[in-house]
Amino acid sequence: MNYSFADRSLNVPSSGIGMMMRYAASYSDVLSLGQGTPLFPTPQYIYDYVSEQARKDPAVGQYSTANLENQLLELIAKDFEEIYGFKPQLSELALSVGGVGGLMATFLALLNPGDEIIYFDPSYPIHLSQLEIAQAKVVFVSLKEDEGWKLDFELLEKSIAPKTKAILLTNPNNPTGTVLSKQEVERLADIVLKNDLYLILDEAYQFLSYEEFYSPLMIEDLRKNTICIKSFSKEFAMTGWRIGYVYAPSEVLTKIAFSINTYLCISPATIAIHGAIAALSDPRGKEAMNGFYNEFLKSREVICNRMDKLNKLFSYSKPQGAYYLFPKIKGFEDLGAIDFCKKLVDEAKVITIPGDSSGPAGKRHIRMSFAAKSDLIEKAFDRIDEFASKYDLL
Ligand SMILES: Cc1ncc(COP(=O)(O)O)c(C=O)c1O
Repeated sequence: MNYSFADRSLNVPSSGIGMMMRYAASYSDVLSLGQGTPLFPTPQYIYDYVSEQARKDPAVGQYSTANLENQLLELIAKDFEEIYGFKPQLSELALSVGGVGGLMATFLALLNPGDEIIYFDPSYPIHLSQLEIAQAKVVFVSLKEDEGWKLDFELLEKSIAPKTKAILLTNPNNPTGTVLSKQEVERLADIVLKNDLYLILDEAYQFLSYEEFYSPLMIEDLRKNTICIKSFSKEFAMTGWRIGYVYAPSEVLTKIAFSINTYLCISPATIAIHGAIAALSDPRGKEAMNGFYNEFLKSREVICNRMDKLNKLFSYSKPQGAYYLFPKIKGFEDLGAIDFCKKLVDEAKVITIPGDSSGPAGKRHIRMSFAAKSDLIEKAFDRIDEFASKYDLL
């Protein structure tokens, strides 16, 4: 058989995470700052609720019903009201298989092959893979590294062309940890509205802003242009449940949900919908989320204290949100990010993720996750210190 494949599958970039995990698999005692999985298990009460439902209701093992989905969408709408100050109609919300499922459905519903989409560089690598599958043309707009990875509005305006259909914003950003200020959000809103574009907003880390958080969704006029993708993965430590959701104006949502998402997955797993209902309907969900926030706040201090002492090896900006650091490698000029990460595994036994998968601006950067226990961070940095001192960079 001569295998041949669709063009859309030929050049899908990989995020680098799997590659580093495979690379490190041959070592027994590596410490990982690689993964973006929260260090906490899903709150126990959510498991208990789901087990109880499964015991008493055989429908838990069947396709979800509109009733069950609406129960969850109603809770999501209430959550929006608390966070963003408005309550969406149920026709403006749809469930998805993780945030990633919602993003893919959105890209497929809105972008024709060749349509341009602005991507703030660096951002979340999975977006780049999905946009390749959607055959959209990614226009990279570099963030300003020396200003803490802020948006470059002049460059953004220059990059908008007749084929531009959407701006994609991850806020807080993975991997830079940038959080937009109210003024920046307002300036971005003006640009979106002036050019009549879609704003596709990935707010997977909305709960994890260490600064005051202002979402584009708080600007009423902008909502007709905005599609917002969110997830239970990080907020409730539910990465494995694969459940997220999309907000969009009804007309747009209908396309995303009923012309695309239904045919990608029918719906998220019924059991995951029950889990998400437990997460949002019981005060213990928000308590757990606040607990995670406080732990991440502490881990951020721990990792930044250690990074501050490594200024011959790395330069970095303190993240304002999410749980990643995105330092630039100093020295080792002959090494790209991938080779540097491999060297760090070989010599320091610490896993980090090469930054170039986040976009061209991530060249010579690495991503470190601080979604890890403080003592693991301290231990990993003891090893990195030793590595730096071997090269006279401590
Ligand atoms: C910015 C961003 N968006 C979306 C996701 C995907 O989340 P989910 O598990 O909901 O698919 C992640 C996961 O790391 C992320 O970092």
